[in-house]
Amino acid sequence: MATILTIANQKGGVGKTTNAVNLADALAALKKKVLLIDGDYQANATSAMGVPEGHPGLATAILQRALFTNFVAPLERQPLIEVLAGAMDLNNIGQAFSELERNIMIDPVLGVVRHGATFQKTTALKGYDYVIIDTHPSLDSLLTAAMAVSDGLVIPLFPEKFSVDGLKLFYGWYNQAKVLNANLAIAGCLVTNFDQDNATHRAYLKQIRSLPEKYRIPVFDTVIPNSKSVAGASAIKQGVSQYRGKSPIAQSYRSLAKEIDKLYKDTQTTLIDPPVVEKPADIEIAIDID
Ligand SMILES: Nc1ncnc2c1ncn2[C@@H]1O[C@H](COP(=O)(O)OP(=O)(O)OP(=O)(O)O)[C@@H](O)[C@H]1O
Ligand SMILES: [Mg+2]
Repeated sequence: MATILTIANQKGGVGKTTNAVNLADALAALKKKVLLIDGDYQANATSAMGVPEGHPGLATAILQRALFTNFVAPLERQPLIEVLAGAMDLNNIGQAFSELERNIMIDPVLGVVRHGATFQKTTALKGYDYVIIDTHPSLDSLLTAAMAVSDGLVIPLFPEKFSVDGLKLFYGWYNQAKVLNANLAIAGCLVTNFDQDNATHRAYLKQIRSLPEKYRIPVFDTVIPNSKSVAGASAIKQGVSQYRGKSPIAQSYRSLAKEIDKLYKDTQTTLIDPPVVEKPADIEIAIDID
């Protein structure tokens, strides 16, 4: 059964889409079958994957209350990835639903049935190893729904003040989402756009690496470096692994995919006992720089 991962952070421009797209690519390189759902009306992941604008996708499936499988776009360059496209229509979707429906509206899309606080995945997801959901930087109904059906959250962070300051707010959202989905766990914070020559970045990385011990918030060992290949690859609608397969950033995404796959190999058994939620009193990530 598929492992569902939501890539989220309420802070804009911290690499959610870049990580969603390149993680999907890297998991496919491990021979995993991946469904990439673009849950952001900006539709950046859709365009980065080269899916033509106007291709029916998530919005169509939700509005028609139809199963998502009717609308997935296969990728020519990578048959192991299918994309459920995003579109501007996603921005209007909230109005078409009652509050209750808004909370559970991703259910018909993912083929998920709600049973109290838990979700049982149905056969529609059987063909996939991973579902990766890219999200918009706000606590909109799609992010709520995505968290309600996910196994794990990947939280990208630039090693910079505004980005890490946002973690505290996001942790509050995560705790709210646990009410809908007790099985939701943070797969890890992911330090991304890291510049080894930047003293501030190095100082923040050190602080972020203390999160597991200080607050029991997991952090991936893999760090995604700052790289010009990100802009180059997205300009020609490719992932960094097609654009510069031997680059350090392509290697980092391969290492992230392996780390995630190791984490979720035994999902079915590890999630029987939901992790205990403990709200840290105050997440502080401060650094001293001379
Ligand atoms: N590792 C990286 N190296 C260099 N640039 C990067 C890296 N990761 C992301 N970027 C750049 O940072 C910018 C923001 O990235 P991205 O669009 O992935 O963020 P986002 O969190 O999805 O944004 P939004 O909140 O608007 O959806 C983009 O211009 C992207 O090219
Ligand atoms: Mg984005």
